[in-house]
Amino acid sequence: MTSSPKLVQAKVRARSNIALVKYWGKADAALNIPAVGSISITLDGLWTDTEIRFDDSLNADRLVLNGTERADQLDRVSRCLDLVRAQAGTESKAWVTSENNFPTGAGLASSASGFAALVGAATAALEFDCPPRELSILARRGSGSAARSLFGGFVEMHKGEAADGSDSFAEPLLAAPDWPLSVLVAITEKSEKAVGSGPGMALSAQTSPFYKDWVTFHPPDLDAARDAIAARDFSALADVSEWSCLKMHASAMSTVPPLLYWNGATVDCLNRVRALRADGVPVFFTIDAGPQVKAVCLPGAEEDVRRAIESVPGVREVLATGLGPGLERLE
Ligand code: PMV
Repeated sequence: MTSSPKLVQAKVRARSNIALVKYWGKADAALNIPAVGSISITLDGLWTDTEIRFDDSLNADRLVLNGTERADQLDRVSRCLDLVRAQAGTESKAWVTSENNFPTGAGLASSASGFAALVGAATAALEFDCPPRELSILARRGSGSAARSLFGGFVEMHKGEAADGSDSFAEPLLAAPDWPLSVLVAITEKSEKAVGSGPGMALSAQTSPFYKDWVTFHPPDLDAARDAIAARDFSALADVSEWSCLKMHASAMSTVPPLLYWNGATVDCLNRVRALRADGVPVFFTIDAGPQVKAVCLPGAEEDVRRAIESVPGVREVLATGLGPGLERLE
């Protein structure tokens, strides 16, 4: 039975996250179940604010992203909203107005904060009391990394075993204040990338000769990162994070046709970070499906790291942030 929503409007903020142990590849594309688990950190300073207004007079959802109506992105958003509507028991269509305070679709996990904010705002507007685990499953259906953005600090996404994805969800490992880290993001390109992570990882699974090994040898990385976080062992976290990043990109680069998400400045930043680390500065790099380099460091190292990456030719901007909280209700 369907009913009209009572409170029909809500606005929430969800932050972007970056995976330290990466997810790349799906076990089930239709249900968006990842082939591997992942561990991420939630970034305080990079967020999506999303307002949703359910409106019975609409015959289709409408999406305004960063001030522009985006019919091209609507299908993915509506499919995710359909799941929320089905569970909440409404058929009302919605106005979705979303703003990112950072470049969209350029390897800064705008889909993570975007879909986390979408399900957070939709369930709040519909007064649908959804437990965190179920909310993260809904977010996962929009974007795998979005399941992690609902939570703050250090977060683990479980790939799960169930064919219906019911145990493929994210949960917090450690709150942001319990181990403060700083993240400097070197922006080397602001335009949207040519091949998104979804199509990219599907192609890797089909064509990369390294993909099977990427999946097979992935679980020990999760164990190592979980242990490092529990022990606040920066050096151990640095080792496993850099390795996971390079293994993910090895799968991407060995895809047919190859997916090279990096540019020259990406590689130069990576080398600067490696040199700093070799000199004893507590910092490591990670890179998602895009050309931006994220340097993760202990708070005292922030200025050294900023100086090192900001002077790399091709770096347009450096964003600095700490670790942040999970989903926040704004209105
Ligand atoms: O959630 P998606 O479909 O945007 O995929 C994210 C993939 C990576 O960002 C490259 C890795 C990760 O775990 O976030």
